[in-house]
Amino acid sequence: MIFAVFDGYDSMSQYACDHYVDFISSRELCVLGLATGSTPELFYEKLADSCKRGEVSFKDVETFNLDEYCGIDASNDQSYLSFMKRHLFDKVDIPKGAWHLPDGNASDPKAACHGYDEAIFDAGGIDLQLLGLGNNGHIGFNEPSDSFPVGTHIVDLDSSTIEANSRFFESMDDVPKRAITMGIGTIMCAQSIVVMATGRGKAGIVKRAFTGKVVPQVPASVLQLHRDVLVLLDKDAAAELVPALKGDARLFLYDDLSDTDF
Ligand code: GLP
Repeated sequence: MIFAVFDGYDSMSQYACDHYVDFISSRELCVLGLATGSTPELFYEKLADSCKRGEVSFKDVETFNLDEYCGIDASNDQSYLSFMKRHLFDKVDIPKGAWHLPDGNASDPKAACHGYDEAIFDAGGIDLQLLGLGNNGHIGFNEPSDSFPVGTHIVDLDSSTIEANSRFFESMDDVPKRAITMGIGTIMCAQSIVVMATGRGKAGIVKRAFTGKVVPQVPASVLQLHRDVLVLLDKDAAAELVPALKGDARLFLYDDLSDTDF
């Protein structure tokens, strides 16, 4: 794992954007795993702007999103499909049919899960997977549990996740209680992974996930076992991790943070 720490959200998002522009441009075809949540919003905005300026093209890119809610219509403003259209798909030159999200409302959920894993496999697997980090350490919607789920599956969301996501809905009753998500196995099969986290509220879970024991109770901790993970953090999210990693060659401080007293 490589840890890159930035002064703020803007420079972290710009770094992520530059990384993706280089990554996409250096390949003829490319399969991206994408994430939702507030964290990648500015990154998507910068990526869409880069595309508008002609610095990167999505015409040979195929994408697979991590997850989708169950029980709300895809046309709902808060569905992850709507999120992705609003923040990326409608703003870049990605061909119709080249982006995929799991179907949270499939009449046969088992077949939908299996079909999603198959579609990823048929595309040649994910080259670069983007991840955010839930407050409880979830990745995608893989909630803390007693084992690491392998493939795409349906989950009952944790009460803490329902509460965290309630900020996007009018009332608690409107927040979906179930979701469909790629499994930990699917995520770990990606060639490379980029994780992003911002804000003081994530500092504790960032340290636990990346310096603690690898346990399914902290799903993101499994990323310690992957051979190519880049963790992008603003200084607030890194506040507890940096002291634990001081002197570690995997830690890179940007934006003149070298003199910052973490
Ligand atoms: C949701 C998504 C995750 C995301 C997480 C963190 O639960 N399913 O993929 O990483 O929220 O969201 P945020 O970036 O808003 O903190």
